[in-house]
Amino acid sequence: MSRRDEPIVLGIETSCDETGVGIVRGHTLLANTIASSMDEHARFGGVVPEVASRAHLEAMTPTVEGALAAAGLRFSDIDAVAVTAGPGLAGALLVGVAAAKAYALGLGVPLYGVNHLAAHVAVDQLEHGPLPKPSIALLVSGGHSSLLLVPDVAQDVISLGSTVDDAAGEAFDKVARVLGLPFPGGPHIDRAAREGSGTAVAFPRGKYDDGTLDFSFSGLKTAVARWVEAREAAGEAVPVADVAASFQEAVVDVLTRKALQACARYGVKDLLIGGGVAANSRLRAMAQERCDAAGVRLRVPRPGLCTDNGAMVAALGADLVAAGVHPSTLEIPADSSLPITVVNV
Ligand code: KG4
Ligand code: ZN
Repeated sequence: MSRRDEPIVLGIETSCDETGVGIVRGHTLLANTIASSMDEHARFGGVVPEVASRAHLEAMTPTVEGALAAAGLRFSDIDAVAVTAGPGLAGALLVGVAAAKAYALGLGVPLYGVNHLAAHVAVDQLEHGPLPKPSIALLVSGGHSSLLLVPDVAQDVISLGSTVDDAAGEAFDKVARVLGLPFPGGPHIDRAAREGSGTAVAFPRGKYDDGTLDFSFSGLKTAVARWVEAREAAGEAVPVADVAASFQEAVVDVLTRKALQACARYGVKDLLIGGGVAANSRLRAMAQERCDAAGVRLRVPRPGLCTDNGAMVAALGADLVAAGVHPSTLEIPADSSLPITVVNV
C-alpha cells in the first residue's frame, strides 16, 4: 500500500438503482462514475429490484473501467476495494459485493464491506476535509431518515432518532406522485416549489414538539393527498407549486428543528447533512439560517455527492484503512437490513 493515510481506494455502490464506482486517494476524489437504471424504473413509479440487479450486472465492468480511465489509473494502482454491504435491495447489493470480492481477490488487496448510511456521512470529507469529532449527522434519503451522533465515522456511529414511518425521500416521492410529477419526486418538488409559497397551506408537522429526536412523515403525506383530493372533488385546479412548496416547508422545518435540537442536547457544534434529500435547496437554505442563528457549523456535500455514488463508499473505505480497521473476509454477506450503527462488516 502506498501510504496508510492516503490509500487509493476503489469504492463500489449498488444498493439501489445506481451502479456507482468511485476512486479516492485518502480524502482526495479522483473519479466518480455512475450508471443509473432509473429510466427503466420511472414508468413503474419506483425501483423494480430485479431490473436494478440485472442493470448492475451489465454496468459493473464498464463503470469500473470508466472510473479507472477518469482517474488515469490502472488496476495495479488500487490499494483497497470498498463496497456497500447494506442496507439496500438484497439482489442489487449482491452484485456489488460479489464484484468487489472478485476485484479484491484478483488484485490481492484488502476488501472493506461498508454501511451505505455511514458512507453518506463520510463522503463530505472529500469536499470539506476531515469530519470534526464528534459531529451530529442528519441522514435523509429515500430509505432512511436518521439523526446520528458521530464520534468517529470509521468506528463509532450512535443513533439518536429516526423516522417511525416513511423516510423523508419516500414522502417526497409519494407526494410527487399525488401531484402528477415524475419519479423520483424529490428534485421535481424542489423545482416546482420555487414558483410557490411555503406558507400557502399549513400542513401538519409530525412529532414537532414531542421531545424525541424521531421523525414521522406519513401523516403529512396523507394530509397532502387529502387536500389535493378535496380540491379535485370540488372541481378546482390544484396549485401544484404552492402544495409542493408548503409540503417541502413542513418537511424541512421538522428536519432542521430536530437536527439543531440534537446539536444542543449533545453540546455538538458541527452538523452534517447527507443522503439524497440533502440535495434539496430549501433544506440547505433553512439549515444554514438556523445553524447561523445557533452558532453551529454546517457541512453539506454538493448535490452530486448527496445522492448515491461510489465515491462515498471509497471515502469511508479510505477512513477504515487509515484507522487500521481489520479488512472484511471474502465470506461477508450482503445485508439488506444492516443496522446504521454497524459501520463495516
Ligand atoms: O440517498 P439516495 O440517492 O438513495 C437512497 O439511499 O435512498 O436518496 C434518494 C432520495 C429520493 O427519495 C429522492 O426523491 C430524494 O432522495 N431527493 C430529493 C432531492 N434529490 C433527491 N429530495 C428532495 N429534494 C431534492 N432536490
Ligand atoms: Zn443512499
